Amino acid sequence: MSPQVTVATLLVGGAARLLELPAHGFRTIVADPPWDYRDGLGRGANYTKRGAEAHYALLTADGVVSLPVGRLAYVNAHLYLWTTNAFMVQAHGVAASWGFEVKTILTWVKKGIGMGHHFRNNTEHVLFGTRGTLALRRRDVPTAFHAPRRAHSEKPLEFFALVESVSPGPYLELFGRHARPGWTVWGNEAGKLASQLMLVKP
Ligand SMILES: C[S@@+](CC[C@H](N)C(=O)[O-])C[C@H]1O[C@@H](n2cnc3c(N)ncnc32)[C@H](O)[C@@H]1O
Repeated sequence: MSPQVTVATLLVGGAARLLELPAHGFRTIVADPPWDYRDGLGRGANYTKRGAEAHYALLTADGVVSLPVGRLAYVNAHLYLWTTNAFMVQAHGVAASWGFEVKTILTWVKKGIGMGHHFRNNTEHVLFGTRGTLALRRRDVPTAFHAPRRAHSEKPLEFFALVESVSPGPYLELFGRHARPGWTVWGNEAGKLASQLMLVKP
């Protein structure tokens, strides 16, 4: 059975467990790192003591870079890398270090306004990068997509539908918490939100 149509494979653990996955086994990789605001780089628009660190362990940009993502991706592959506004520069460095060239930036536009020091955040961004040559399945998808807010840090199902419509499997989600049919999901909380995998009504 091809990895695209199997149920989710969950891999809970640290970087070492990533090496258990097949080398060059994934054509499309989504990553949503726990960017570490405490390292001083990101104390900006999104920083709050009640922010990410209250919810899960954080990882420095160097820690994210050190993950063997280049080894996991097909030679011809797509990357979707979530970043906050404060970590936009570091995220470009991470994508490059994993061997991807950033081609464009997608933006999740949320309803209402959030926290923020200078401007109030109602967007999050995803760097889209490519390695080698892998055609997009379609070229009519706008760079902005609208979806309701979900639980803290939780990314919308609309985004995963977008990824599947544009990029081919096998699919890997790094730092995921949902079991996601057809995807291999890795993260220290993988499967935590499995029971909540449903669309939120706008
Ligand atoms: C930004 S959240 C991802 C949220 C996810 N995209 C979702 O929609 O639910 C980052 C995740 O990475 C996990 N994490 C933190 N440090 C980790 C590490 N060293 N190895 C694996 N996962 C880690 C956190 O526990 C958290 O679940």
